[in-house]
Amino acid sequence: MIQVDYSRSGKSVASFAPALAQAHTWLQEATGRGNDFVGWVNLPRDYDKEEYARIQAAAKKIQSDSKALVVIGIGGSYLGARGVIEFLRSPNYNLKKKDTPNIYFAGNGLSADYLQEIMDLIGDDDFSVNVISKSGTTTEPAVAFRFFRAALEKKYGKAGAAKRIYATTDKARGALKALSTAEGYETFVVPDNVGGRYSVLTAVGLLPIAVSGIDLDQLMAGAASMMETCRRADLDVNPAWQYAAARNTLYRDGLKIEILGAYEPAFRFMTEWWKQLYGESEGKEHKGIFPASVEFTADLHSMGQYIQDGERQMFETIVRFGPSAADLRVPLDESDGDGLNFLAGKDMDYIATQAMDGTLLAHVEGGVPNLVVRAGEKNAYTLGEIIYFFEYSCGLSGYLLGVNPFDQPGVEAYKKNMFALLGKPGYEEMGAALRAKLEK
Ligand code: PA5
Repeated sequence: MIQVDYSRSGKSVASFAPALAQAHTWLQEATGRGNDFVGWVNLPRDYDKEEYARIQAAAKKIQSDSKALVVIGIGGSYLGARGVIEFLRSPNYNLKKKDTPNIYFAGNGLSADYLQEIMDLIGDDDFSVNVISKSGTTTEPAVAFRFFRAALEKKYGKAGAAKRIYATTDKARGALKALSTAEGYETFVVPDNVGGRYSVLTAVGLLPIAVSGIDLDQLMAGAASMMETCRRADLDVNPAWQYAAARNTLYRDGLKIEILGAYEPAFRFMTEWWKQLYGESEGKEHKGIFPASVEFTADLHSMGQYIQDGERQMFETIVRFGPSAADLRVPLDESDGDGLNFLAGKDMDYIATQAMDGTLLAHVEGGVPNLVVRAGEKNAYTLGEIIYFFEYSCGLSGYLLGVNPFDQPGVEAYKKNMFALLGKPGYEEMGAALRAKLEK
């Protein structure tokens, strides 16, 4: 169950009900802007069951024949999987003793050092590759795939490598699909009607997540339950309606930055996923809340000063989880040299809750309205709920803002310039013009 507490935002959201009802209809009936890309709305119920079984079978094979899996993808083709694995299995997953493969994320940048390090870390270990690209043409993952495909072919031969390459891409279009068909790679589909940043619950996220040993059924069950909650056209009971309305009313008041945070370091990559989801969905037509993130309490000692006292242009959304399974109590120290015995016997959850409450009051008093998203215990079911809640809220929120939440025209600008400067066929003239500009 997810509850949104917007009582510390200082705002009423009731006036948004009619606009929310309209946005809700656009999502439910696929009749709004970008309606070709709302396949994620019913996905937790209508997902392809045959493919889901193939994902689990492929995950078992990878677990049995590989010590490492390289997940190659960028943006919506990797952030969700990484967020889920780090939250549920730990940011230190690769360092843990476990009977599942190490997982390395590649193709999400162009750093030679980063790529080399992954190759060195894999060393002589048996490994497999899951290359993920909806378009099948994105440069960063395509370049990384060349390196890992070459390494696989050198180690296992062409036929052996083909059995260790899993491609997640469009069902028919793109260079990756064509290559996969030619080479005989097992393929999984990014549905036509699901954009990259809404694709974590498709094969895009599910294959790497399953390889890490996470219970996919629980993740999907949580998402399905939140889908039912979000279908209710009622501001009093629909947390996505409440969150979308609260953030839009704050934006209209001039607060242009939203900081998402949690008191769980393992949630950090989920905030990266959230930033892409909201930034790419809303930041267009010179509008949109800028999504930023913090990790508390660590960032209270770095960003805390600015949040408390800097320019008043932001609000905070804090995700709070149920109690931890770890029962850690502060030990008693007879000498009390550090003066901490007033905490002796108190559990860490209790201490963290006081920090959360104290910080909330301080920030609100400092002029930073707070929204609190209350979630359940830290498990796959809860995370499925959180994923669907943020996706549905994002669709609503983009419509409230008056943009198409499902396109990303701005992402193309840098790509075109990069292709031109790299001399991609067809971009020669543009390349010369850009080089002249750089030389000025
Ligand atoms: O959300 C999006 O659409 C983007 O972030 C894409 O996921 C990203 O650009 C990668 O694209 P592709 O999966 O086509 O390689």
